[in-house]
This record gives sequence, C-alpha cells and structure tokens, in this order.
Amino acid sequence: MAAAALAGVAKLHMSQDIPEMAEAEGLLLTVTDVRAETRLIRALTLARSHHEPLPSWHPGAHIRVQLPDRDDRSYSLINVSADPHATTRPRSYRIGVRLEDPSRGGSRFMHALRAGDQVTVLPPSNNFQLEPRQQPVILLAGGIGITPIVSMAAALAAEGRPYRLHYAGRTRSDLAFIKEIEQLCGEHLVLHTDDTAGRIFDVDGLFGSLRSEEPIYCCGPRAMIDAAIAATKARGWTDARLRFELFSAAAPQSGDRPFEVVLKSTGESFLIPPDKTILDVIIEAGKDPLHDCKRGDCGICQVQVLEGVPDHRDYILSDTEKAEGKKMQICVSRSKTPRLVIDL
Ligand SMILES: Cc1cc2nc3c(=O)[nH]c(=O)nc-3n(C[C@H](O)[C@H](O)[C@H](O)COP(=O)(O)OP(=O)(O)OC[C@H]3O[C@@H](n4cnc5c(N)ncnc54)[C@H](O)[C@@H]3O)c2cc1C
Ligand code: FES
Repeated sequence: MAAAALAGVAKLHMSQDIPEMAEAEGLLLTVTDVRAETRLIRALTLARSHHEPLPSWHPGAHIRVQLPDRDDRSYSLINVSADPHATTRPRSYRIGVRLEDPSRGGSRFMHALRAGDQVTVLPPSNNFQLEPRQQPVILLAGGIGITPIVSMAAALAAEGRPYRLHYAGRTRSDLAFIKEIEQLCGEHLVLHTDDTAGRIFDVDGLFGSLRSEEPIYCCGPRAMIDAAIAATKARGWTDARLRFELFSAAAPQSGDRPFEVVLKSTGESFLIPPDKTILDVIIEAGKDPLHDCKRGDCGICQVQVLEGVPDHRDYILSDTEKAEGKKMQICVSRSKTPRLVIDL
C-alpha cells in the first residue's frame, strides 16, 4: 500500500465519527478485551465504540494496525466459530499477537494495549484466500501462524468441507487458542508438540503421506514455509497446490554488501546499505513506490531490471524467472552486481 493511504489513516485517528465512505482508509476501534493465550501471545478484541457492525472478511484476511510512528503492522483475523455468519457482519475483530524479539517495536506496542485503548486499523484485506474447491484441504500451522489457519478451519467446518488441521508448537502451553480449536475441529485436528515428539514437525513426512491432490495452506515460521516449498518442489507438484503466508520479512544475511540502485525515470542514484532494502531507501528519499507485504510474497513492488544482476529473495518468481534476472521485488531482493538500474 502506498504511503499516501496511511496518511489518510492518521487524519481519521482524530475523528470519533468515521463515515462509511472513509472505511477504505481507516477504522477507529476500541480494545474491548485482552487475554494472555500463551507466554508470548495475547488475544485482543477490537470493536467500534457502540459495537456497530464492521466490514466483513474471509478466512486468511488481515487488518493493519497503525502504530504511533505512523508505520503499521498486519494481524490476521481469527474466527473459531463454525457459525457461517460470524465473519459476514462481525461486531468485533479478534487478533492474536506474538511478542517478537528482535523487533522494531510493533508487537511490543500491541502487547501494551489495554481494554479501553483506541487504535486505527485499515479494514480487512486478503492475500491468503481459501479457494472454493471441494477436495479435502490440508491446513498446516506453526506457532502464531495458527491465526489465519484457524479461520480457514472454521469456514471449512461451517461449509461441511473435509479438512485436516496440523497445528505444531514447541510445547502444548505454546499453542494459542488450543481449547477452542480442539472444540471446533475435533477429529480433524492433529497436534504436534516438539517436546513430546522429540523433534520438530516433519513437513516432508506429512507431504509424503498425502495421497490425492489436496490443496495445502501453510502459515508458520519461515523454516516451516521453506520446508513446505522444498517438499512441494521435490515431488514435482505445481506451485498452486501450496499456498502460504509469511509473517515476517527476510532478515539481512551475513555477507550482504552495499550496492547502488539507479532509477531510470529520473537518473537518481541511491546507496543501499546491508541492513536496508531498496524499497526502504527510496521511501526514505521521499518516493512513493507501490508496495504492500514488504516480505516478497505479494508481487506488488515488482520492477523491471534494466542493468545488473538481482539477488532474488522473494517467494513470487519462478526459478526460471529468477535465472533470467529481468524483474525483481524491491522489498526484499538485493544485487549481485555493484550497480542495478531499475525501471522506476
Ligand atoms: C499478512 C500478515 C499477517 C500477520 N498476522 C500476524 C498475526 O496474526 N499475529 C502476529 O503476531 N503477527 C502477525 N504478523 C506479523 C506482524 O505484522 C508483525 O510483523 C509482528 O507483530 C512483529 O512486529 P515487530 O514490530 O514487533 O517486529 P519486526 O521488527 O517487524 O520484526 C519481526 C521479526 O522479523 C525478524 N527480524 C527483524 N529484524 C531482524 C534482524 N535484524 N535480524 C534477525 N531477525 C530479524 C525477527 O524474527 C522478528 O521477530 C502478520 C504479518 C503479515 C504480513
Ligand atoms: S511489497 Fe509484496 S513483494 Fe514486495
């Protein structure tokens, strides 16, 4: 989302009376409940001041909560009810927030919220949609990745579609929303805890056990998603069979070096240090390039590469496209050459 849209959110923060037309820009919501789900995860419920209905959403959707510094963080919406109306005219939004470390402070801000506090959020958007297909569906969640996945389980349960939810964590006490999920999913739930199994969840083993063309939806730590991608590739399955959502951007890698980026439109040149992305640097310079996820999995920030060799770190391009080096996602990818010229 371009920075301009969030500037609109800041203005709405001052208003107690948000007109319907402004909803695309922001909703002023009150925290009505805060609960500790695990040592690190809190569940928050957000509602309008008089509990008026909120915009509807589909499983996999997230809201973006504005932070005091005008940056924002995304949180997936949670529904554990098999009532098909729970998401069509909701009177509150429920989210689960894991306290992160290292962190730029977003999850700390969310954990400091108390009942009665107000936050501004962008209404639900969805890059992780559950397809309306009839095959049995495999849901795979690790840790806080349960938030979008449980909403998918609730929708599948409501529609009477067959599914199996694999939910993994270090110990049972690290599994957020566990009692509600056990109640919702019953025999469709398969739990994995590292301490009792004596090992982390075996993604490759799960994929190897699948017999038909079940679509797989995965959300969890980057290592789990990378294992799911590797297991999909190893079996020659189509990319479309595995859908996933990443919660965090790639951390800088050791050996990352500074490089120069030149914008074709203006000829301006920028030095990209190892701890910043191309997108960060050109936004700091006052540009407003299109972007959304900042994790290399939505494709919105993609640009053409006119000179130089990109170092791809995204989850969008195919292996062939990466080898061609003609386009790149500037929110995560870097450069193998000292200079890149991009069509921006
Ligand atoms: C679509 C979407 C849905 C999401 N849903 C949820 C949700 O339901 N619940 C939830 O808790 N979060 C969710 N997130 C993540 C959330 O938006 C925030 O990113 C999260 O709360 C952390 O914010 P932060 O400012 O505390 O940490 P950030 O500074 O954003 O860091 C996040 C993580 O990135 C890694 N990291 C960052 N910098 C470094 C570094 N220099 N070296 C190594 N590692 C680093 C660390 O693992 C760190 O914990 C979602 C994200 C997206 C994109
Ligand atoms: S902003 Fe989503 S891929 Fe870059």
